[in-house]
Amino acid sequence: MKNLLLILVFLAMISCSNSMTDKEKQEYTDIGNEISQASFKALSEKLTAQMKMGGTAQAIPFCNIEAMPLTQEMSEKYRVNIKRTSNKLRNQKNKPTERELEIINNYHKLISEKKGINPIVEINNNNNRHFYAPIVVKANCLVCHGKVGEFVTVKTDSIIKSLYPNDKAIGYNEGDLRGIWSIEFKK
Ligand code: HEC
Repeated sequence: MKNLLLILVFLAMISCSNSMTDKEKQEYTDIGNEISQASFKALSEKLTAQMKMGGTAQAIPFCNIEAMPLTQEMSEKYRVNIKRTSNKLRNQKNKPTERELEIINNYHKLISEKKGINPIVEINNNNNRHFYAPIVVKANCLVCHGKVGEFVTVKTDSIIKSLYPNDKAIGYNEGDLRGIWSIEFKK
């Protein structure tokens, strides 16, 4: 009996250090939403400017060179690790971890069951708080991620293929799940 009590106390201690209160989860969800929206805005603004200047022929090489450093800049600003990832990659450098892929697959499952998809906050293997949230395809994404011949012109497709020969991030419709934000908070 005494041993059982000790085990229970011990288990409670472990679970305390590895779990978050609802309040804490909500706080990290709010910060995560804020950071992902700010990063999205920074990326979108630059991308839109490039599109205006030279269409996809200019915007795609811009993304190719600037998307990662820009995300890196935002990571430093907020002192977190920001990543965009997907099950259908364009840039191999955005490859998902096992956990990220699980989360993406689970979002897809929820969508197929017509259920809602919401941000997730949990403690990761590094014992850090980690935020995940869906990235959904909007109308203005289709010129580079939509169907070839419909929104993606043959010329755009050939630019994409020349930079990303293994591109899988094409053929999307508006409202589809494109991938996720994955933001790790450092200690
Ligand atoms: C001008 C073309 C262009 C437009 C418009 C565009 N993308 Fe991309 N996207 C790219 C390129 C090029 C990459 C690969 C470079 C990178 O960002 O790492 C990419 C990568 C991504 C990634 C990272 C995962 C991966 O496959 O490498 C996500 C997520 C993404 N795009 C979502 C979107 C969303 C959502 C929109 C609309 C709001 C959008 N993109 C609009 C060209 C575009």
